[in-house]
Amino acid sequence: MASVGKLRAAEAALKEVSDGQVLGIGTGSTVAVFIGLLGKRVKEEGLDLICVPTSYQSAYLAVENGLRLSTLDEHPTLDLAVDGTDEIDPNLNLIKGGGAALTKEKVVDSSAKRFVVIADSSKLVERIGKFPLPVEVLPFARAKVMRAIAVMGGEPRLRDGGDRKDGPLVTDNGNFIVDASFKEIIDPRALEIEIKMVPGVVEVGLFVGLAHCAYLGDGAGVRILSRS
Ligand code: A5P
Repeated sequence: MASVGKLRAAEAALKEVSDGQVLGIGTGSTVAVFIGLLGKRVKEEGLDLICVPTSYQSAYLAVENGLRLSTLDEHPTLDLAVDGTDEIDPNLNLIKGGGAALTKEKVVDSSAKRFVVIADSSKLVERIGKFPLPVEVLPFARAKVMRAIAVMGGEPRLRDGGDRKDGPLVTDNGNFIVDASFKEIIDPRALEIEIKMVPGVVEVGLFVGLAHCAYLGDGAGVRILSRS
C-alpha cells in the first residue's frame, strides 16, 4: 500500500500527461504508483502514449500496466519525464540512485523538455548530502574511484547485493554502486563534476539544474517546487 504522500505526488504529475506524449519513466516506489495510475488513465481514456523506461523495474511495470515502450534511439527528445528522488533541496538539486538506476535516469530525465519529480514530502531537505551519494562505477575501477572519493572528503562504501546476492550489487548496466557519504553537500554542481572526472565513474547521483518542478505529497496535500 503506497503512502498517501507518494500517491498525491503521483496524482499531481499525472495531470501533466496529455494524449500523444512521449514520456520518460523513472524508477522506484513512487514511480511505481505513477505507472499504475498512468496505465489506468490510458485504459479509461484511450490515450496514445509512448514510454521510455529507466530500468528493468519500470519497463516491466509499464508493460504490466498496458503501456507502450520505446527507446531514446527512436525518441531522443521526450515531452515529459517523471521520476522519484532520494533527497531534494528547495533549489531542486537532487540525490538519486537509491535504487541503483541513476545512470539511465539521468540520461532519460535530461532528454525531456520537462522533468517533474514526485516524492513523499519527507524527501525535502534544506541541504542535500545526508543520503549517501550513489556513484555508478565500472567494476574494474572500484578501488581507484573509492580512493578518489575519500580524498574528496567522502566516506565511500561499495553497495552490497543484499540477502539474495553474495558480494556487490550489480546494476542494470552491469556495474557497481559506491555510496559516498558526504554528510552535507555545499556545492552540488562542483561535486558532480569533480566525481564525474574520475576515470571509471559511469555516473553520479547528483541531478543539478535538471528538474523543472517537484510535487511533494503528504497527509496535508501537495507542495509544489518550481525552478525559478
Ligand atoms: C532509483 O535509483 C532512484 O533514483 C529512485 O528514483 C529514488 O530512490 C526514489 O525512490 P522511491 O520513490 O522508492 O523513494
